[in-house]
Amino acid sequence: MIVYDNLSNGKYELIKELEGKKSFKFIKADLLDFETLDANFKKYKPQVVLHLAANSDVKNGLQDTKLDLEQGTIATYNVLEAARRNNAEDILFSSSSVVYGYATVKPTPEDYGPLKPASMYGASKLACEGMITAFSHLYGFNNYIYRFANIVGQNLTHGVILDFAKKLRKNIKELEVLGNGKQKKSYLDVMDCIDGMLLVYNKSNEKENIYNLSLDDQISVSEIAEMVIKELSPNAKIRYTGTESGWPGDVPNSYLSNKRISSIGFKPRYKTSREAVMHAIECNKRILS
Ligand SMILES: NC(=O)c1ccc[n+]([C@@H]2O[C@H](COP(=O)([O-])OP(=O)(O)OC[C@H]3O[C@@H](n4cnc5c(N)ncnc54)[C@H](O)[C@@H]3O)[C@@H](O)[C@H]2O)c1
Repeated sequence: MIVYDNLSNGKYELIKELEGKKSFKFIKADLLDFETLDANFKKYKPQVVLHLAANSDVKNGLQDTKLDLEQGTIATYNVLEAARRNNAEDILFSSSSVVYGYATVKPTPEDYGPLKPASMYGASKLACEGMITAFSHLYGFNNYIYRFANIVGQNLTHGVILDFAKKLRKNIKELEVLGNGKQKKSYLDVMDCIDGMLLVYNKSNEKENIYNLSLDDQISVSEIAEMVIKELSPNAKIRYTGTESGWPGDVPNSYLSNKRISSIGFKPRYKTSREAVMHAIECNKRILS
């Protein structure tokens, strides 16, 4: 396995234990450097390409409107073009629930449309999906597009739990929560997410395979805030900023249908969003406190 990452948000310590293993190689490089990417594809000839790199924090695209275009859309184009030139066969891609925008059908199934993302991040994910299906159609890749709910678990790099912990570190008496706290979303443990991706890859044999990866429930932001407070600063009071969405472009009510993935045998360890969030708080205590 070859891991290709510029470490802009990833941490090398987390994969250090694989160093020296014959079947593992780490390359520190940027996907926006096409020449280096293409040279590495030529050298190693990967058949299966699992493309996970992106700006992963939706809020970042608000200030910097080019960020998702570059780190999402162009980076994905580079991966596809290098894969095409070097005859890769399978493309696996981490898309997101945000491609559905403010969906009017809930739980939202994979064939919901029209897809109208509400953030630069969502627009980029949808553009990437479009490029992947076009490249697949024209050059014969098999594609696996995973629309993730909110993924939590060991070694958090971003997201609501980490944001709350950082705020509580600055002020142990008060937690500012963006929005009115009623925003509701689904959360899935990262190991369950990986199991789901592999399940689809091994069991779904279409040329194009689009799957939501989610649990069949939701949890509110205020519940998460209370859980984090209980663990890190039990006397802190919550102060809501009061808007319906946490920030412009945030989808306040996101609920994906998991019927399709369940139909091929998806059996997550953490069966509710609450359990997944609780586990994430417990296993990240060192990072959070
Ligand atoms: N975590 C979630 O809740 C969630 C939800 C939906 C979709 N996703 C998607 O899943 C994928 C993984 O998310 P994550 O939460 O692990 O995020 P992450 O930020 O931890 O991982 C992304 C990795 O990509 C690397 N990277 C970014 N830009 C790069 C570039 N130009 N060249 C090379 N490497 C680059 C970063 O260093 C990082 O290691 C992302 O595509 C994200 O958009 C995540």
